[in-house]
Amino acid sequence: MEGIIIEGGRPLNGTVRIQGSKNAALPILAATLLIRGKTILSNCPHITDIEHMMNLLRSAGCAVNSENNRVIVDAKVLSKTAFPKEDVDCMRSSVILLGAMLGRCGEVSLSYPGGCVIGERPIDLHIQTLGKLGVHFKNEERRVCALCAHLHGNDINLPFRSVGVTENLILAAVLAKGTTRIYPAAREPEVVALCDFLKKAGARIRGAGSDEIIITGVERLAETEYCVEADRIVAGTYLFAATGCGGMVELSEAPVLQMKSVLRVLKQMGAQVKADENGRCIRLEAEGRPHRLPFVQTAVYPGFPTDLQSNLVTALTKADGTSVVEERIFENRYRILPELRAMGADLTQKEDRVIIRGVAHLTGAELTAMELRGGAGLVCAGMMAKGKSIVRGVEYIRRGYEDIVEDLKQLGAGVGWTGVEKR
Ligand code: EPZ
Repeated sequence: MEGIIIEGGRPLNGTVRIQGSKNAALPILAATLLIRGKTILSNCPHITDIEHMMNLLRSAGCAVNSENNRVIVDAKVLSKTAFPKEDVDCMRSSVILLGAMLGRCGEVSLSYPGGCVIGERPIDLHIQTLGKLGVHFKNEERRVCALCAHLHGNDINLPFRSVGVTENLILAAVLAKGTTRIYPAAREPEVVALCDFLKKAGARIRGAGSDEIIITGVERLAETEYCVEADRIVAGTYLFAATGCGGMVELSEAPVLQMKSVLRVLKQMGAQVKADENGRCIRLEAEGRPHRLPFVQTAVYPGFPTDLQSNLVTALTKADGTSVVEERIFENRYRILPELRAMGADLTQKEDRVIIRGVAHLTGAELTAMELRGGAGLVCAGMMAKGKSIVRGVEYIRRGYEDIVEDLKQLGAGVGWTGVEKR
């Protein structure tokens, strides 16, 4: 069984370029269904979630080719509106295909994307809000089937700023009749990137990144090219690793302006952080144990991102005191606590909070990843620990990191693949 082998206990030193953003690329690939022609996407990360999304586009009849980090989608002619269960099931974010397919051809059917270990992750709000644009849903044995003769604009008030729901509504609204107003909209950079892409193709969208997004439907979208921005979560992963291990790292192509809340927390932990004026390079220097954090909670953007919560908790296991972290987005995102305890961490979970009493050191162990971001956190824990660790379940990590081993090697970490041929 493949795994990542880690010789921990050493500081990190080096430079690494940050890959393209998974959570920007996925909705943009779904959006290519709205274009009756070619889309060229550059700097697209080479990860398994992108491979699944490309297969889903192929199953709808698109011609999809990828070479290195360039993906070309030709959605001139679609042949199917039902997506195969096997590809939908392995990727929660397949739900984003609802808005794109409804916008393109007014019908879609996909298996009900099940929950995952970080939470139930229902799609009730997706169904409820798309219904307000004229979509009719029927549930057939765990499949979501949707039909819509004519999509029309509407005012949509969201009970909370769901990223996926905001994206699905935008995808359904860009070719609908009339105007759609989403309030309060998700403000994540990935939502802004989707809107930037669609506007480049001719969509009429105002307010991306603000509380209110207004979309005025157009007749059709034009062929376009787009470059995916760097991944703020991958960048944050490596910055927390360096803060936990100590050392000096430099990230190039990092999306500095999207990381204010993350850089603020790293500085509170005692790291020296410098970002260059053009906002694409971050230098971080840390030594000794991180400072404790009295209280940090995850939040929607621009708050501290839930996707970095596991890396934050991991770095705080060696802090110089007691910290408290509160997870506000997902109901079950502390899956790595037992693994960290096995390494000597002192952690107590109380509902959506975890109390972290810093220890002088962690000890290497055999670890198993159960989901993407927790898996990356375990790799960081292995690097922080004395001795050897091995992390299994790397298929989860490959969903979001192009090659975490290669990246960390460039930062001087003692890591390697075991049990596989390097890809
Ligand atoms: C996106 O998921 C990201 N995924 C997640 O990243 C990220 O953690 C999340 O946004 C929050 O920032 C992609 O962009 C592909 P939500 P999404 O809708 O859209 C509940 C990663 O590791 N909810 O904002 O699913 C939901 O259960 C992934 O890259 C409903 O209850 O997030 C969650 O508790 C993990 N009903 C909360 O809202 C619904 O209909 C926030 O979810 C929809 C969501």
